[in-house]
Amino acid sequence: MRKKVIAYNRVEQPVLDDLKEKHDVRFFKNIDTKNDPEFLEHLNEAEGIIGLGTPVDAELLNNAPNLKVVSNVSVGYNNLNLDEMTRRNIMGTNTPGILTDTVADAVFGILVATARRIPELDHFVKKGEWQAEAIGEEHYGNNVHHKTLGIIGMGRIGQAIAQRGHFGFDMDILYHSRSRKPDAEKTFNAGYRDLDELLEESDFVCMITPLTKETEGMIGKREFQKMKKSAIFINGSRGQTIVEQDLIEALENGEITAAGLDVFEQEPVNPDNPLLKMKNVVSTPHIGSSTHETELSMSKLAGENLEAGLNGERPPNLVNPNAFDKNA
Ligand code: GLV
Repeated sequence: MRKKVIAYNRVEQPVLDDLKEKHDVRFFKNIDTKNDPEFLEHLNEAEGIIGLGTPVDAELLNNAPNLKVVSNVSVGYNNLNLDEMTRRNIMGTNTPGILTDTVADAVFGILVATARRIPELDHFVKKGEWQAEAIGEEHYGNNVHHKTLGIIGMGRIGQAIAQRGHFGFDMDILYHSRSRKPDAEKTFNAGYRDLDELLEESDFVCMITPLTKETEGMIGKREFQKMKKSAIFINGSRGQTIVEQDLIEALENGEITAAGLDVFEQEPVNPDNPLLKMKNVVSTPHIGSSTHETELSMSKLAGENLEAGLNGERPPNLVNPNAFDKNA
């Protein structure tokens, strides 16, 4: 049976085409979901939503009386108010696993780029400023290999970052996580630390925890002050896991050396954000999982989750199991 489906912001074309054959699909991109009349009209009838970062709160749900499933094309699901969804028996799903190595590659790439100042020096060469045969110490970077990498959030992606650091760069791995990870401790010789110890001991502090009530604003002024002055801070999680203004001040005051940021408090980032004026900040537009291969795999998996949810079956990647149990 054809169902009304909303596709939002990012669903790869082959998956969108496939969905359109099976269902009545309307695609919306970069709209104001609270006020867009067409979106609200479709929402009123939609049984499923698939896409990237649809902000699902009580207000949206009040306008979606037929909704059964919201299928995220992302591993993070901080855009979903799961309490409100579960109360209404609406299932939420994500796309874990298939993006792990891709995100770890991106985060590690940003880490190396920040330490070795690659984007800044690329700009230097392309602007024709490489005049002397040998560059001077004003352009030197910092070693990555054999340094201490502190990972905050040791889930699948955190462990894939640890793998790259340990086996690829001979780094000492520290981690802080909600629970101990005995496998990671054994495989990567990773040492568990409480947050303050990790901040004090790490050369690279890498944030890769999901955004939850517990992790929101987890790294702020106090935490930046605990880090080494030589520390390089990497954020591959969500902009809201840190206090961005405090990062700006930590960089301005030389409390840490540099930052590599794939995520920002506001996305797209405001072009006036002071971070974008800093040479010692490497910025990317939330590219963690954005490769051709992985975006397609994520859309496919999200399509499977959506289909299951529309059919009243348990989706493979259900993030609020109680919503299904109540349906059953
Ligand atoms: C990307 O940030 C994701 O959550 O998949």
